[in-house]
Amino acid sequence: MQLCVALDLPTKQENLELIHKIKDYPVWLKVGLRSYIRDGEEFLKDIKKINPDFKIFLDLKLYDIPNTMADAAESIMGLGVDMFNVHASAGKRAMKEVMDRLSCYENRPIVLAVTALTSFNEDEFNNVYGNSIAKKADQFAKDAHESGLDGVVCSAYESTSIKNITDKTFMTLTPGIRPFGEDAGDQQRVADVDFAKNADVDFIVVGRPIYKAQDPAFVVKKILEQI
Ligand code: C5P
Repeated sequence: MQLCVALDLPTKQENLELIHKIKDYPVWLKVGLRSYIRDGEEFLKDIKKINPDFKIFLDLKLYDIPNTMADAAESIMGLGVDMFNVHASAGKRAMKEVMDRLSCYENRPIVLAVTALTSFNEDEFNNVYGNSIAKKADQFAKDAHESGLDGVVCSAYESTSIKNITDKTFMTLTPGIRPFGEDAGDQQRVADVDFAKNADVDFIVVGRPIYKAQDPAFVVKKILEQI
């Protein structure tokens, strides 16, 4: 299991300070919508300047018509990131088109599909998707697997079931992690490091419990020891 640190701080400067503090640890860095919209490709280059071994997960959660998603995926290819994601609810045709478009590249990034956002509770989810989180997450994972993606973004609670219905090597990346039972914030379905480990999760994403800590490097170290 690998640790992915969410760079969700309000300014580029604060994100860079956080990255400096944890630069000696073998972690992935997650660049989300806010950072990428504000700081763009330059920020990705800044990260690599601090430590070229950092792996970057560009968390833009693409959702659009198939051709536009494939075009966007091809542009992402040019950024040199190591992983990005799309919404599984965009449908199998869109996911297949993304993978087809990337198939001619050697060293393409890992491509994941978002199943159910971990901030949804059952009622909210049902309102949008008309089904339970568990059932729909399984269906989305099957769709992503059949479309040739490498894995899914899901909660730690769905990881085992998803691997059972797809493939043990089909990756799961789980946000909503409160490593040692910290405050959940707006996340509804949180799990700790041990739970994720037992669920064979491949990547845990941790944001606030790290960047809001007095000593982020200490929390990263503790999580890596636990992993
Ligand atoms: O602060 P926290 O650890 O809750 O941050 C989780 C991160 O993972 C945020 O950047 C959030 O946007 C992202 N994320 C999520 N749920 C998903 C997909 C991504 O919380 N399903």
